Amino acid sequence: MLKKMFLALAALATAARAQPVPDPDKQAAALVKQMTPAERNLLLHSYFSRQNNVRSAPLPGAPWAAGFTPAIPRLGIPMLAQTDASLGVAWISGRRAKDATALPSSLALAATWDVKIAYAGSAAIALDARASGLNTLLAGGVDLTREPRNGRNFEYLGEDPLLAGVLAGETIRAIQDQHVLSTVKHYALNAQETLQNVLPVTIDEAAARESDLLAFEIAIERGNPGSVMCAYNHFNGPFACGSDFLLNKVLKQDWNYPGFVMSDWGATHATSDAINGLDVESGQEFDPQVYFAAPLAALDGKDAAYTARISDMNQRILRAMIAVHLLEDPPKIGVPDIARGEAAARAEAAAGTVLLKNNAILPLLKTAKRIAVIGGYANIGVMSGGGSSQVAPQSGPALAVPTQGDGGEWMAQVLMPGAPVKAIQARLAKDARVSFDNGAYLSTAMAKARDAEVAIVFATQWTSEGMDVPDLGLPNHQDELIAAVAAANPRTIVVLETGGPVLMPWLDKVPAVLEAWYPGIKGAEAIADILFGDVNPSGRLPITFPASLDQTPRPHLDGWLEDPAKAKVSYDIEGSDVGYRWYDRKGLTPLFPFGFGLSYASFRYDDLQIRSEGNTIHASFTVTNTGTRAGRDTPQVYVTARGGRRGQRLIGWGNVDLAPGATTRVTVDADPRLLADWSIPRHRWAVPAGRYDVTVNSSAATPLLNGSTGLEARLLAP
Ligand code: GLC
Repeated sequence: MLKKMFLALAALATAARAQPVPDPDKQAAALVKQMTPAERNLLLHSYFSRQNNVRSAPLPGAPWAAGFTPAIPRLGIPMLAQTDASLGVAWISGRRAKDATALPSSLALAATWDVKIAYAGSAAIALDARASGLNTLLAGGVDLTREPRNGRNFEYLGEDPLLAGVLAGETIRAIQDQHVLSTVKHYALNAQETLQNVLPVTIDEAAARESDLLAFEIAIERGNPGSVMCAYNHFNGPFACGSDFLLNKVLKQDWNYPGFVMSDWGATHATSDAINGLDVESGQEFDPQVYFAAPLAALDGKDAAYTARISDMNQRILRAMIAVHLLEDPPKIGVPDIARGEAAARAEAAAGTVLLKNNAILPLLKTAKRIAVIGGYANIGVMSGGGSSQVAPQSGPALAVPTQGDGGEWMAQVLMPGAPVKAIQARLAKDARVSFDNGAYLSTAMAKARDAEVAIVFATQWTSEGMDVPDLGLPNHQDELIAAVAAANPRTIVVLETGGPVLMPWLDKVPAVLEAWYPGIKGAEAIADILFGDVNPSGRLPITFPASLDQTPRPHLDGWLEDPAKAKVSYDIEGSDVGYRWYDRKGLTPLFPFGFGLSYASFRYDDLQIRSEGNTIHASFTVTNTGTRAGRDTPQVYVTARGGRRGQRLIGWGNVDLAPGATTRVTVDADPRLLADWSIPRHRWAVPAGRYDVTVNSSAATPLLNGSTGLEARLLAP
């Protein structure tokens, strides 16, 4: 009920704002015409603003933000006050929002497979940003999970271009409907943190188009982000932020993108990046010189190409600001609607929690009298991810453990307030006893477990921007702790709070496992909702959990402890077969497959009908709740052969809420690009002729219905 009411409110509140602006390009052109030479340079480079470690004195009026370009009051152009990021208004480097909802990690959002939940959470954090006077959220992280050890997987939406692109597009639309400009990032192939600033990434163009670039293309189509943030790494030679191919040819020509490209902070390398398609040098203090200030201004009016480019740069920036209503609807400092944000965060965390194993021990009874809770800081709060996306409520983190030598906030391990121990206790009778042990000593943890009806071990894996994890093991000997507790009490439940996939050597020793990801400010409540059945788990993995790193395309993490000059990453090993596509191609069985998740209900699929029409396929089928509880199912539709050639690709899914015994029909219409190969010589998507095998699955590895149809060869319109 809470979720339904909230979603309805969210829809009402945002419908009013989402009115398109008449002809933003024309309005922008009129402003560009009026700009003086000095004004023509102002918007082309942004300050890191008033951070603790800023290297230049803050400009008058500079906000506490990640990026800032000054206003041009004479023309009615507001300042751009840019903060991070996809999970809420950042609380980092001295920045303190008036208050901010800390959403669950983007992987938790991806595990919901639900565009409505995506919209609700992002609309809420955009309103938080406005209440802090900020008009840009540097959100929309959508790099595909090619590297399970990537420290920023928690900020991205998994391994599939359709799922990631659709959800990213929805978050961007939600943010901009509140008249806050969003980005989509990091364009492109920024799939690891190790040596990311210099990493020479190579990949075949067609493979990139059919995977990571397709995720960006879908996100941009659906969300119309005002800006695209280019990535730190090289892309087939040039840096991404100086790549004529990525920025001019693909983004601005092929995709006809009207907005502006901002660099990542410290990702600008030359004034000539402007000619290759970069529009704004962000975080200028991070660069050895401000390439887009004096050097660029000196070319304006002198060099025809640069003069035209500078007009276009300003045009794109202003067009984006106008299209998102920043000129006529500036943010007003106010009181954030934290209740709205927390309702969205709790709904997202519960819906994104994935039940990985349940041997009839969950849901727990609320009549339980003795529960032992062990480890994972469960007496304090829940884990969150480090780096620029770090959020905390006005009251600050429940705990911040510095990890860097300066003991500062940057990359501190931050626990979000809300203790699972308290949330569990609140679901039980007054006389029930919930004991806690921090897991530091196996002996005491085992004793507590032995003395309880059921033991719940919380295990955390902190990950962060700026680093990758060396392996997929749980850190701090937690695997040992889990095995010891399970030996002391066979009724042991494991709750994972991780930034990505982890190995589980103890899996056959425990009857139940929940993946709660970084569950955000209401994570403790959401975990209790699932543990006690107040919410029926419906999360489905948006990334594959490998059985070992040997199953992955790159068991050795490229660049790890290597000479930066020698590091490189070739994604041609898997090409566009990222994640489950790779496991399908290699015939590998992962620990848990993409799309996997259990429920307290059960569902059956029937009556698959497949129809081909023109250049695409339509599939419909029925879903029945065969269980005894209401619940949500997320049936997935894959093509497993295209034109007779094997290869698995997700083409759609359903979000189905059903009462016990109820049945409904789901229809999926495939985006033709998912049926196609990118043809480099013809510079078009080409749908191959022949047979198309289609399956309806409960996960990438479990086809439950199958059928086939045929298509003629087609070239998709450019
Ligand atoms: C960081 C991140 C980017 C963030 C920006 C501003 O380096 O890569 O995601 O938005 O700088 O904080």
